[in-house]
Amino acid sequence: MAQEFVVFSGSANEGLADAIAAELGARLGSRAVARFPDGETAVRLDVPVRGRDVVLIQPTAPPVNDNVIELLAFADACRRSAAARITAVVPYFGYARSDKRHARREPITASLVARLMQTAGIDQVVTLDLHADQIEGFFSIPVDNLSAAPSLCRALGDQLPEGVVVVSPDAGRVKAASDYAQRLGAPVVVLHKRRDSPDATAVTHVVGDVTDRPCLIIDDMISTGGTIARAVEALLAAGARREIIVAATHGLFVGDARGMLARAGVRRVVVTDSIAQSTSGPTPPEVVSIAPLFAAAIRRIHQADSSLVDLYRDAPAAARAVSSPV
Ligand code: R5P
Repeated sequence: MAQEFVVFSGSANEGLADAIAAELGARLGSRAVARFPDGETAVRLDVPVRGRDVVLIQPTAPPVNDNVIELLAFADACRRSAAARITAVVPYFGYARSDKRHARREPITASLVARLMQTAGIDQVVTLDLHADQIEGFFSIPVDNLSAAPSLCRALGDQLPEGVVVVSPDAGRVKAASDYAQRLGAPVVVLHKRRDSPDATAVTHVVGDVTDRPCLIIDDMISTGGTIARAVEALLAAGARREIIVAATHGLFVGDARGMLARAGVRRVVVTDSIAQSTSGPTPPEVVSIAPLFAAAIRRIHQADSSLVDLYRDAPAAARAVSSPV
């Protein structure tokens, strides 16, 4: 495919950007990213963008603040260099959990980031499994919120144990769990989760029967691993079989998250490559690439093809596992 648009990668997940560019048959635009001695971010585009469509690939994963600023700086560079249109591909949208005020005098940081992205000149956003669908409403530009469920379900595929139930770890994930359950032909069980602090949760109820059943816990993200560990404890206490699988779109795995999952007895963890993964350490996850999904979205955006909406529900090509299962 001729490179009718120019694709740049930030530094947050260059492996994914390379894979998306390869799917597109494009080469990433040359650019520079550096840090000034005082920690400020410096970026530079090495190719002209005047009058061109620009795609910036940058998940705002940890270190979140650095990666957000880098995305904003690249967008500003594109805007000041007279790019015709700037599309931000943000496979993981940091601060998404700050989507409402839980108490007085708190910010809604996801909304703030959305406004900053627009101020920087971003014209449209392509993202994946936003923590809450309504985050789209924080933007007044087009947002395409793609789904990883088809890719993850294909990867889970035939290796799921007989009689598996799909588990939503909290009320916020019920819709997604129902989607997985429908695709996999399995029933849904819902946990009632209470969050006591950013890294402490408790499961108070298991809604549904898990007696002697293997469980597939699904989530949008694994951060500290606490939500999954508490979910496993609750499921085992409710009689589930010691055969627990986890599928999540975004594997942040902060701190000892992987160790926590291993100690909880999780047998298999499947995530996408929205965030760069390391295969060393405990419970290395099986990683499913969402590069074909994003490449299809970019292609259709560029061609003003409204069948882009299909990507919300179905991926364009077979998901590819880029590392081995646990
Ligand atoms: C919460 O609403 C999210 O969907 C995830 O369940 C949660 O953020 C995961 O965080 P952690 O792994 O730290 O429990």
